[in-house]
Amino acid sequence: MKIISIANQKGGVAKTTTTMNLAAGLVRKGKSVLCVDFDPQSNLSDYLGYKAQDNLPTISELMMATATMQRTDVGQSIRHNVEGVDYIPSSILLSSADVFLSQVMCREQVLKRILSAPEVQLYDYVLIDCLPSLGILLTNALTASDAVLIPVQAQKFSLDGLAQLAQVIEMVKTQINPQLAICGVLLTMADNTNMSRAVEEALHGMFEDNVFATKIRRSVEAANSTYEHRSLVSRPKSKLGSEYMAVVEELLERGV
Ligand SMILES: Nc1ncnc2c1ncn2[C@@H]1O[C@H](COP(=O)(O)OP(=O)(O)OP(=O)(O)O)[C@@H](O)[C@H]1O
Ligand SMILES: [Mg+2]
Repeated sequence: MKIISIANQKGGVAKTTTTMNLAAGLVRKGKSVLCVDFDPQSNLSDYLGYKAQDNLPTISELMMATATMQRTDVGQSIRHNVEGVDYIPSSILLSSADVFLSQVMCREQVLKRILSAPEVQLYDYVLIDCLPSLGILLTNALTASDAVLIPVQAQKFSLDGLAQLAQVIEMVKTQINPQLAICGVLLTMADNTNMSRAVEEALHGMFEDNVFATKIRRSVEAANSTYEHRSLVSRPKSKLGSEYMAVVEELLERGV
C-alpha cells in the first residue's frame, strides 16, 4: 500500500482535479484506490459525486474522535464512487482542526493513526487531496504519506511558494517521517504562452528528473468534468484524460 499526498499550498493549481483523475486512472489500471478528501472545501467529495445526506462519519469526525483517543470505525466512513474509486469525504468541520488539534499530543500523527486501520491497509493506493495551506492538516497528510506529488500551475508566481513547501516536506521528513519523498512535480494548465514555457523550464531547473514528462494542458474539459462528477480519464476522447493516463503510467513506471 502506498499513500500519496497531492499538495501545494497555492490555491487553484489542480490538486483536486489531479487527485480525482489519478485515482480513476489507477482504478482503470486494476488498482484499488481510496481517496481522502482532506480539505474543508470538500471539492473532491463533490467531484466524486458525494451528497452529504447520510449520517456516517466524514474525515472531520474521524480526526476529532481519533484526536481524543475515541474508537472510530474507519470502514463505515468509506463511500464508493460510480467509477470504482472509494473515498472518505470531508466537511466544513475540518476547518476547525487548528482548534481541536491544538491541545492534542502528537497532533501531526492523527491522520496516520486513522490510515493505519486494517480496512485502509487493503488498498493499493491512498491519495490524499490536501487543502491549500501549510498548516497542521498538511503536516498530518505528509506525516501519513510515503510520497508527495506537487501540481504546479503554469502561471506567474507559481514558483514563489515552492521553496517553502519543500522546506515543510524536509521538516516532516527529518523530524517524523524519514521515508517521505517527492514522487513527482506535475505542470498543470500549460498553454502556448511564454509564461507557461518559462515556468516549465524553471521547474526542470529546480526539480530536474522529478518533473513528470507529461504536462496537463489548459482546457475547459476540466470544469465540465467536475460539473458532471465524472473523471476526465473516463471520457473516451478527452485530451486531458489521456494526459492524466500518461501521468498514471509514469507513476507506475517510477514504481510509486
Ligand atoms: N487542466 C486544466 N485546464 C483548465 N482548468 C483546469 C485544469 N485543471 C483544473 N482546472 C480548473 O481550475 C480550477 C482549480 O482546480 P482544482 O480545484 O483542481 O485546484 P485545487 O488546487 O484543488 O484548488 P484548491 O487549492 O482550492 O483546493 C477548477 O475550476 C478546475 O476545474
Ligand atoms: Mg482542491
